[in-house]
Amino acid sequence: MTDNLDRRRFLETAGAVAAGAAVALTGAQSANAAEGPAPAAGKVKILAFCGSHRKGKTTAAALKIALDSAKTVSDDIETELIELVDYKLDPVQPGAPFKDDFEKLAAKISDPAVGGIILGSPVYYSNMSSMIKIFVEHWGPYKKSFALSNKVAGVLAVAGARNGGQENVVQSLMQSLLGMEMICVGDGRPSAHGGATLWNQKDDISQDESGVNTAKGLGRRVAEVALRIAGKGK
Ligand SMILES: Cc1cc2nc3c(=O)[nH]c(=O)nc-3n(C[C@H](O)[C@H](O)[C@H](O)COP(=O)(O)O)c2cc1C
Repeated sequence: MTDNLDRRRFLETAGAVAAGAAVALTGAQSANAAEGPAPAAGKVKILAFCGSHRKGKTTAAALKIALDSAKTVSDDIETELIELVDYKLDPVQPGAPFKDDFEKLAAKISDPAVGGIILGSPVYYSNMSSMIKIFVEHWGPYKKSFALSNKVAGVLAVAGARNGGQENVVQSLMQSLLGMEMICVGDGRPSAHGGATLWNQKDDISQDESGVNTAKGLGRRVAEVALRIAGKGK
């Protein structure tokens, strides 16, 4: 946050986004509303945030696979890969305004066209990276305003071993996303795993066919559900 946008103003902004999101997010959000689904309009955007400390490496490559797969679902899907390593993110001090680059990231998240968010992390010591953890710790205002309610969420993890802790990362991040009232999805049929889990072999994920398929499935599933919620899916 910049000095002139304090935490309180950010909360107000997030609240306004929540109100605006009701226009784009129709399905589940309006399930108990009398007006029913709003007419479909515009594109549905899916953002992927990469929490790798290495730019353009395997986590980013896996997220790109997921986003490319999302785009195959419909011409109405737009995607953007954001590498957190390009932004300055400080550890959050509770009660203190953000003085790092989070405002730039918040602007992307607050775009009313955003219907889905994929978080990607490398596995570091069987857990998520500190970068993705710090990023999500900035989401306190969303937790309070529920501005991300009914946005679709998916998690992807890449490790140096086949069973290096990917599922732990997926489950742990998903708990945070569920706490935002987001709709978490996995990689869908036929495997229907909890998320995308990939094995990096010498900085190459392409040899991990089943892992690559989980990334494709996750992207597809996020797109399918986001389109449905926007009133544009089948
Ligand atoms: C500090 C650190 C800790 C790691 N811990 C694990 C681990 O617990 N299990 C594992 O399988 N791989 C581990 N790895 C390997 C990375 O998860 C793997 O290389 C991953 O693909 C890195 O993502 P990147 O290519 O986006 O940087 C670790 C790597 C680093 C740098």
